[in-house]
Amino acid sequence: MNAAVHISYGPPDVVQIAEVDKPTAGDNQLLVKVHATTVNRTDSGLRAAKPFINRFFTGLRRPRVTILGNEFAGAVEAVGRGVRSFQVGDRVFGYNGTRFGAHAEYLAVPEDGSLATMPANLTYEEAAPSTEGSHYALAMIRKAKLRSGQDVLVYGATGAIGSAAVQLLKHLGAEVTAVCDSEHVELVRGLGADRVIDYTAEDFTKDTQTYDVVLDAVGKSSFGRCKRLLKPRGIYLSSDLGPLSQNPILALITPLHRGKKVLFPIPRDNQEMARYFKGLMESGAFKPVIDRRYRLDQIVEAYRYVETGQKIGNVVINVEPST
Ligand SMILES: NC(=O)c1ccc[n+]([C@@H]2O[C@H](COP(=O)([O-])OP(=O)(O)OC[C@H]3O[C@@H](n4cnc5c(N)ncnc54)[C@H](OP(=O)(O)O)[C@@H]3O)[C@@H](O)[C@H]2O)c1
Repeated sequence: MNAAVHISYGPPDVVQIAEVDKPTAGDNQLLVKVHATTVNRTDSGLRAAKPFINRFFTGLRRPRVTILGNEFAGAVEAVGRGVRSFQVGDRVFGYNGTRFGAHAEYLAVPEDGSLATMPANLTYEEAAPSTEGSHYALAMIRKAKLRSGQDVLVYGATGAIGSAAVQLLKHLGAEVTAVCDSEHVELVRGLGADRVIDYTAEDFTKDTQTYDVVLDAVGKSSFGRCKRLLKPRGIYLSSDLGPLSQNPILALITPLHRGKKVLFPIPRDNQEMARYFKGLMESGAFKPVIDRRYRLDQIVEAYRYVETGQKIGNVVINVEPST
């Protein structure tokens, strides 16, 4: 089968389309014919080994995982022994967060992994970008125990995490103020934001409103800069480690007293998460934002675009034409 393979760390062009062995469905596994996948910031960070510390987990000199891609949508082509809940022909989507391998024509995934059958109303390319940025957003929202009616500011509302966060928050009934650039104000309103701050025209940290939660989905602010935006017991969440990796440390210290605090959840993925997104997509409450689409043989270009840091939502790779 064809796959996008990288055998060394480096810039996008270390990735090449190569012929590799087709995986098989082991016991309790499904073999999925991949129709669509994504290139996201995690793929980029692992391929480039940036930050360097990634290498302690992914291989010091060379990458242990040579086929990246953690989101997928496709059709079950074969099932291994013991598989009960999926069958050949099922259209499935999901997240293969630790094993990767979706930048390929076939992918083997465990039956009890983070996957679900696809909503009937979605194409493969619509379903593929529904589990990565969105599960980071969901982890933050759940950690903050957000309730209906709470005021939330989302900084970086046009990214994969931010565009999912705005939709998930609206579904929960939060009052959402979203921060993005002037070009995308209408897009973000369309995601459900009640109020939009154009960061090219004003500094959102000087906003006069206060919030129960500030969610930095682009990792470019800090607790110190956002503290004045928080209500007395408000929560600051960020998708990034923050300046000098302070966010995980602040998440240990700040909850020790009753004031404003930082939370830094470790995102978890499981089948409940995939089913949750399936339900939201079926009902129309969540629709992943797709920016650009590429074919598998254009994946180097897709990486270059993702690494501009300016993609809007998600970048999809069509491995097979979507149906
Ligand atoms: N916690 C984790 O495990 C984890 C996992 C994945 C990613 N991350 C981190 O989370 C961050 C977001 O990830 P992502 O995948 O959502 O990123 P992304 O999709 O690449 O986000 C890019 C978006 O952010 C917007 N943006 C850039 N600079 C901005 C600024 N100063 N103010 C407001 N918006 C800005 C861009 O729009 P404009 O430039 O057009 O405004 C673009 O739409 C990244 O820093 C990534 O490293 C963390």
